[in-house]
Amino acid sequence: MSDSIVIDGGIPLRGRIEVRGAKNLATKAMVAALLGDTPSILQDVPQISDVSIVTRMLDAYGVAVTSPEEGVLVLDPSNVERAHFAQIDALAGSSRIPILFCGPLLHRLGEALIPDLGGCRIGDRPIDFHMDALRAFGAIVDKSYEGIRITAPDGLTGANIELPYPSVGATEQVLLTAVRARGVTELKNAAIEPEIMDLIAVLQKMGAIIWMEPNRTIFIEGVETLSGYTHRAIFDRNEAASWASAALATGGDIFVGGAKQQDLMTFLNVFRKVGGAFEVHEDGIRFYHPGGALKPVQVETDVHPGFMTDWQQPLIVALTQAEGVSVVHETVYENRFGFTDALVEMGADIVVHQDGLESVTRRVPRRKLEQAAVITGPTPLHGADVRVPDLRGGFSYLIAALTAEGRSTVTNLGIISRGYEHFVEKLEALGARFELVG
Ligand code: EPU
Repeated sequence: MSDSIVIDGGIPLRGRIEVRGAKNLATKAMVAALLGDTPSILQDVPQISDVSIVTRMLDAYGVAVTSPEEGVLVLDPSNVERAHFAQIDALAGSSRIPILFCGPLLHRLGEALIPDLGGCRIGDRPIDFHMDALRAFGAIVDKSYEGIRITAPDGLTGANIELPYPSVGATEQVLLTAVRARGVTELKNAAIEPEIMDLIAVLQKMGAIIWMEPNRTIFIEGVETLSGYTHRAIFDRNEAASWASAALATGGDIFVGGAKQQDLMTFLNVFRKVGGAFEVHEDGIRFYHPGGALKPVQVETDVHPGFMTDWQQPLIVALTQAEGVSVVHETVYENRFGFTDALVEMGADIVVHQDGLESVTRRVPRRKLEQAAVITGPTPLHGADVRVPDLRGGFSYLIAALTAEGRSTVTNLGIISRGYEHFVEKLEALGARFELVG
């Protein structure tokens, strides 16, 4: 695929595109297939590079992954085997998903070798919650030059775990480990994102016993065997919200096929407050700019059911066009406003406060690592040459280039294909004027 795109901006995006299964569910459901004794079938799998990376990791461990038709994966774990170091090492730095192989591999092989992780550079992104949880199940963690080696000589036993923060990945780690551990696991302060609920649905189809109590507590009763599943992945909420912000920023009208209201309620409220309009249909949601001025908002990112950290970057581009001062508080990651530098180069007025901003209207107590971005609009954007820094920031550059007057070049597109399926074809379907180069 080309590495760069030259965009002639200033044209509202209009038309219909489809979103398929969520990156942040499909990749985890693929890992879950390792736990079954029989093949699993996953439907609505997006063609994105994070799926390819997990496919390669599964392949390294002997899981046969085939695709009988587009969007469908059959994952056969009948011949799970130890991986060669070179195969694992080749995946180092490419994704964070491999960390979730730990529990399933410990159950299947008694040990797990995990490459050094990658993923977007949006802060430290430590794995201490994951490792502490695995130790609580009885695993032994060694960090070596090869990566992370985890063993469980006495098998894994259910544990009482309380996460310091409702981490999505650590909750998934516990679920994927506890389902086949001996006894009952109690997980307090769990993440409850819709993708996690969908992963629980996958595991229940496989034979797991999982229930929830109020206040983010999940119980998992370990079972001896699990079988394969057939499952259609939940739609990609982050992609849907990204196209919605693209419609708003460019003054356009986009029907996002496959988007569902229930899982986007928090986003829809903010979208409406900014001045965007939407219509909920059976088969998707129409997002459009109804005319008139956009309004500034105060938003804070949070764990579900709050406003997702992955929604703020595309929204910020739309906020550069709102009349007045908006504030976005980032409370999930400690460094997720780096992408705004390029927007400033394109004419936006954005000031980032690295230590956050106090505000009387705040809903959650201030987190230690939070920052705030103050966006003053409206500011016309002009074309520039920008380089994609991370997945969501990168998509926001596409929106900024589409909104801007004049020509922009966006390079390092490979990162965007980690999480946005066929985004070039979708831009074409929406009437964007561009050319791929490189
Ligand atoms: N954290 C720790 N220690 C840990 C794990 C997390 O301190 O061991 C901290 C993180 O540094 C962060 C916070 O906890 O400050 C939340 O991280 P979380 O574990 O919830 O995030 P994640 O599982 O690594 C997933 C998504 C992200 C999404 C977040 C939040 C995947 C593959 N990634 O990351 O998606 O932003 O949850 O919802 O599911 C993206 O799609 O672009 C993306 C980055």
